[in-house]
Amino acid sequence: MEKAHKEIAIPELPLFKKGKVRDMYEVEDKILIVVSDRISAFDWVLPSLIPDKGKILTQLSMFWFEHISLVCPNHMITTKIDEFPESLQKYKAVLDKRSMLVKKIEVFPVECVVRGYLAGSGWKDYKETGITSGVKLPDGLKNSDRLDEPIFTPATKAEEGHDENISFKEMQKLIGSDLSNKIRDISIELYQKASLHAISKGIIIADTKFEFGLTDKEIILVDEIFTPDSSRFWPVSSYEPGGSQPSLDKQFVRDYLEGTDWDKASPPPELPSEIVNQTASRYMEIYRLLTDKDTL
Ligand SMILES: Nc1ncnc2c1ncn2[C@@H]1O[C@H](COP(=O)(O)OP(=O)(O)O)[C@@H](O)[C@H]1O
Ligand SMILES: [Mg+2]
Repeated sequence: MEKAHKEIAIPELPLFKKGKVRDMYEVEDKILIVVSDRISAFDWVLPSLIPDKGKILTQLSMFWFEHISLVCPNHMITTKIDEFPESLQKYKAVLDKRSMLVKKIEVFPVECVVRGYLAGSGWKDYKETGITSGVKLPDGLKNSDRLDEPIFTPATKAEEGHDENISFKEMQKLIGSDLSNKIRDISIELYQKASLHAISKGIIIADTKFEFGLTDKEIILVDEIFTPDSSRFWPVSSYEPGGSQPSLDKQFVRDYLEGTDWDKASPPPELPSEIVNQTASRYMEIYRLLTDKDTL
């Protein structure tokens, strides 16, 4: 494991956007996404870094983009540094494995969440109202229960602050009903296709989040997909509805933070090294299980 990267500066490229985890640069009409080892939780970037996380997210997204390429076009152009423009070759060492050249896309302001199991804010909404994102669910479901059919539960993509679950009707109002219907159907199909692969590796994808954009009237899948930052991954072997599940994803960090006295309104605390190490191991473990690869 090499040292963790807080940010990846490329002074000669115009910055397109600095997200919580990704540093994005403009490369002609394209974007270079460089994934740092930053980790966010409860809408805060934590002061601690998770070694190799940026590589894991990039390699796993690439694996999935290839796996689902027949379902929907995606933004990936290449992750091979040799295929990046000549001016970037001197950054090879820092960019290696953690960067992807992508098409620049106008992203819809909607987080497209698919849930096959009831967890997180889906479970919280259901407990309070029986409904999540406008979807009425059967009575008597337990925490982490499998749903009969995967459901599409969009959320707003807030520029600042917390994303909020919205109903499908509200999504239709935001981006139109034709696009919303298509995006919902694609999202469910992506979830089903990836779940089949994951289950063959002993992993349940409890829920996941996509982002989409539009070029020339074509819907394009962007951002990261089926990573431990964007999905809940539960080992089948320990799955037992009725409570929260052991998971190979960011939930481990959220659970740790929930157990501290941090108020989520002021800057978050450092993670103890034990939590950093365990998070790094979980991220590597899910990468290994899903891709059958031992190295990044
Ligand atoms: N192909 C793309 N074109 C334009 N923007 C993109 C593309 N892929 C992802 N994005 C945007 O880039 C950002 C990714 O950086 P990230 O650190 O994950 O940000 P955030 O803090 O918003 O989650 C997201 O805002 C996402 O919508
Ligand atoms: Mg993001």
